[in-house]
Amino acid sequence: MFEESPHSNKRDLVSIDVLSNARIEELLSFADEISQNLRAWSALCPGLILASLFYEPSTRTRLSFESAMLRLGGGTIGIADPRSSSASKGESLADTVRIIGGSYADVIVLRHPSEGAARHAADYAPVPVINAGDGSHEHPTQTLCDLYVLRRSKKKLKGLNVVFCGDLKFSRTVHSLAYALARFGAHLFSAPQTGLEMPESILRRLKEEFGNEPTKLASFPPKDLKDFPKIDAIYLTRPQRERFQEKEKKEEAAYLRLERKLFTSDAFAEAILMHPLPRTEELPPEWDQDPRSLYFQQASFGVPVRMAILAYCLGRKEFGKELPLPKNGELYRSELGLRCSNSNCISRAETRYTQSCFRLFFQKTFSMRCEYCEMESNPSFWGLQSNRLAWPISAKPIPPTFDADLVLFNNIEELRAQDFDLSPSH
Ligand code: NCD
Repeated sequence: MFEESPHSNKRDLVSIDVLSNARIEELLSFADEISQNLRAWSALCPGLILASLFYEPSTRTRLSFESAMLRLGGGTIGIADPRSSSASKGESLADTVRIIGGSYADVIVLRHPSEGAARHAADYAPVPVINAGDGSHEHPTQTLCDLYVLRRSKKKLKGLNVVFCGDLKFSRTVHSLAYALARFGAHLFSAPQTGLEMPESILRRLKEEFGNEPTKLASFPPKDLKDFPKIDAIYLTRPQRERFQEKEKKEEAAYLRLERKLFTSDAFAEAILMHPLPRTEELPPEWDQDPRSLYFQQASFGVPVRMAILAYCLGRKEFGKELPLPKNGELYRSELGLRCSNSNCISRAETRYTQSCFRLFFQKTFSMRCEYCEMESNPSFWGLQSNRLAWPISAKPIPPTFDADLVLFNNIEELRAQDFDLSPSH
């Protein structure tokens, strides 16, 4: 899997990380060219087939991808309801994409409720896999649509001031967009609904990898606007209730509602209003006539942007040469039992087809992230395979360099099950 994947030369779009800033700009420029005349591109992908595999509901993403492929001269097949596929008989995602990518289709667009599903599918599918939303993890193609609208309206992507507002915990569109904007040097603000704050692991990544930590606003719009910068965009999301667990359900009070009259200050005068849609109570229709409301544009540009993405993933358009983005951290594969701590991770759903795999970081403090869902895990013990001894991390920190001998455990039962003993010196 991953580095050794037999299909490692294909252009999967599993997270926004796989595209450099330069590549993003190239894709958006190509989408601009396409949008001049959507009907002029049918010679780009004739005879190619897109399979849309949607294990979760969708209107815009699936239909705009299918429309994009048809406009490129290709064809589409798909599953819009997993109950009508062999998934309902217990077929694994790995087997499904292996078959579909074998001879049925040339590219797979996948939406799935488990975090990391697209990365896992990419390991098994012989054709490119495009992530159309994996649990609450990422939604990179929506991010390209969002960036497209931002670039058109603000004439640049660098250094924008953007406020994320609403459910920042489960909104995958927010997560991908925050990573992308951080790379473009944005100043990010967060105005989360209480209980739906951006996850710690995302905040840490923004800070440690991109040197860009969102400023959390005490209220929104802020009460004290002295020294507050001019905001370029407000990015609002609906409550992702389908992902709420008991904790969020219990905490859920009335969700915010963005009142127009509250945004009269200079700081917001030029802010465009963005929303990935669908909207619920947070975005009243009274905003629709406001020229700054660009959410319907975000959706309609989905077609040219996804035409550019398909042409790229299918190798039908020459783009500048580029080396893959460097990945930080050391890859650690766990054969001895440590599983990802996120119960919604694909590695926990498809245990027979995935091997637990993490990236270890030994910067100021030790941290590790699942290679599928990118959530952090906090193991309690570390050990050495050579002497089968283990230590509690609280008593003896993990040595600050990666060693292939290293083994990590969540708890004492796990280490005993693998015939490790606690070191007498701990
Ligand atoms: C989003 C999604 O599915 O994450 N929808 C979309 O693709 N435009 C946002 C949402 O469902 O709230």
